Amino acid sequence: MSDTRPPSGPLPRHVAIIMDGNGRWAEERGLPRLEGHRQGAKSVRDIVTYAREIGIRYLTLFAFSSENWGRPADEVAGLMDLLHEYLVEERPTMIKNGIEFSTIGVVEKLPKTVQRMIDGCKKATTGLDGMRLTLALSYGGREEITRALKKIARGVDRGEIDPAEIDESTVKAHLDTHDMPDPDLLIRTSGERRISNFMMWQLAYAELVFTEVAWPDFAREDFNRALMAYQKRERRFGLTTSQLQGGPVYNDAAFVPHEGAKSA
Ligand code: IPE
Ligand code: IPE
Ligand code: MG
Repeated sequence: MSDTRPPSGPLPRHVAIIMDGNGRWAEERGLPRLEGHRQGAKSVRDIVTYAREIGIRYLTLFAFSSENWGRPADEVAGLMDLLHEYLVEERPTMIKNGIEFSTIGVVEKLPKTVQRMIDGCKKATTGLDGMRLTLALSYGGREEITRALKKIARGVDRGEIDPAEIDESTVKAHLDTHDMPDPDLLIRTSGERRISNFMMWQLAYAELVFTEVAWPDFAREDFNRALMAYQKRERRFGLTTSQLQGGPVYNDAAFVPHEGAKSA
């Protein structure tokens, strides 16, 4: 076990990561892309453990986008196998470490075997309050917002929602992330500086940290560097510096954390 320590200072409550660069990592080494994904899964295990250890309350990982279905069939199949393997192997660790598992995205599109493992992990970890780990699977931000709009429209149709009463909290309540605070910090690995349709609504005021490190090489030290960069930022949420009172400020102060995270 590494004796790495996080930087002192307030930690983000919710960290989201676009785990990018597996394919290039492998190609640079003359390996098949899947080998990059395999190494990437090791980084997932280590960063999840570390985030839990240092007290991050919510960790959301972009594992497979709605657009990634368009990749070559063998890469998609390989990713699904790895996901299945990850869930089988990590379930006991999640339980042991008090990690509550959840997903965002259209999991119904995933292979049935994977869906069963997802259900199993969710059931086995409901209410655990060490950390909430969320995997974004078959996830697209615009698609999520579109699904939310459909649900709201149905609510209006049934007379359950008054259109005049629709506000931001109505939209939030219909997103996959309805029971999570917005990410405070977004990390993207491997040099790309874009959002790629990840959490389009929720990232409104997240601090963005980009690193050149490819996801398979992303280690605790790199996570600490991102936390340090986060701590140097001043989150103003449209206000002025003198209006800020110090202490951690979140852009969704009205958010009520799920049962387990109340001590955060
Ligand atoms: C991220 O790595 C993992 C997934 C998108 C599933 P990539 O596979 O996108 O790696 P690059 O960006 O091609 O190097
Ligand atoms: C975003 O990475 C999706 C995941 C990390 C799962 P991509 O590699 O798919 O994004 P683009 O294609 O570079 O924008
Ligand atoms: Mg990529």
